[in-house]
Amino acid sequence: MSLLTDKKILLGITGSIAAYKVADWVRALRREGCQITVVMTESACRFIRPLTMAALSGNPVHTGMFATEAPETIPHISLARGHDLLVIAPASAQTIGRLAHGLADNLLAAIALASSSPILVCPAMNSAMFQHPATQANLATIRSYGYRVLDPDCGKMACNEEGPGRLTDWETARQAILTTFAPQNLAHEHVLVTAGPTREAFDPVRFLSNPSTGKMGYALAATAGQRGATVTLISGPTALAAPPGVRCIQVASAVEMQEQVMSCLAAATIVVKAAAVSDYRPAEPQRHKVKKGQATLTLPLVANPDILKELGNRKRKSANFPLLIGFAAESRNHLKEGARKLKEKNLDLIVVNDIGGTETGFAAETNRVTLLDRDGGQEDVPLLSKEETAHRIWDAVGRLLTGSR
Ligand code: CTP
Repeated sequence: MSLLTDKKILLGITGSIAAYKVADWVRALRREGCQITVVMTESACRFIRPLTMAALSGNPVHTGMFATEAPETIPHISLARGHDLLVIAPASAQTIGRLAHGLADNLLAAIALASSSPILVCPAMNSAMFQHPATQANLATIRSYGYRVLDPDCGKMACNEEGPGRLTDWETARQAILTTFAPQNLAHEHVLVTAGPTREAFDPVRFLSNPSTGKMGYALAATAGQRGATVTLISGPTALAAPPGVRCIQVASAVEMQEQVMSCLAAATIVVKAAAVSDYRPAEPQRHKVKKGQATLTLPLVANPDILKELGNRKRKSANFPLLIGFAAESRNHLKEGARKLKEKNLDLIVVNDIGGTETGFAAETNRVTLLDRDGGQEDVPLLSKEETAHRIWDAVGRLLTGSR
């Protein structure tokens, strides 16, 4: 079950050309199990038809202050009470002005005034309008009411002008929506996550690596952000985009990863080593491409630093060391190997995962892990998406932080 399952989201669409983009947001939210009700202003209805949004949301769309079919109902009050989150996207300059000044001259503005749920506002407009001091003052005002505002993206707009004003992208909006529903148990933490494979160069065109895609580590970084943490992600080469709001440092080799981990360590309160670090690297990487020659070739290797072990050793000598979480990727003797690594690397928690099956391990969308902690606790987490698995890991970390296991 995702954080969004059965959540009731009221989506307010206002008069901006970006209205068509939120049609996709509705589909994505419904795929994640949300119930969506759409409210559209009169101007929004000029950009996109209510029929489109009714079909995509699976619910009637509300446009007027007065319900003609059920005159005894009071739509702005019943709609204001019946949801977990109000998302206003795209939010025009006009609507932001209404919100800032507490006007209730259309259904959406009246709902916002009457609503007691969190409100997320996603502005979209011409960049001169966005940058105008009046709009900026209105945004500051609604922020002071506790509304969360997602800054628009920069770029070319429908009016052909360039600058800030494009509706934020779906990934950023999704991260903000999840943040409103996620437990905020990492609010004062600085989480350092490593993810992905490392590449150990043999010559300028070849390297040793492994099939890690980084999905588990990126999910841990994204979900830590949703739970309120400041997040630094140190990533080997992957095809993934950095989660919104996460500082991402790209590295290639184990030695580069080690340097970055050690230089980011001072700020961290929790370190999670989800990266699949190569244990060995070619002893003498070649400056030029190695040419085809004899029938056999032997490649001498040297051991890479074990970054996690080094952290565990430092932890033995320091009282205030960050909480240390490792992974054990195993194809057999999972629990025995996991328990050995937990002890040898002096960890607080180890996530043991089976890299054998198609549903778990490298490249899979799902994972099935066992969590072993420093106090002898064991939790078998069922097969879940990597994002849900990450939340279960943060739940366990939360218990370790409060000593409430
Ligand atoms: N790790 C690390 N540096 C390495 C190797 C591993 O920091 N050079 C970390 C991984 O990020 C992971 C944990 O150590 O959190 C365990 O990694 P894993 O590959 O399962 O085990 P190894 O320690 O490499 O041991 P083995 O290869 O014998 O299974």
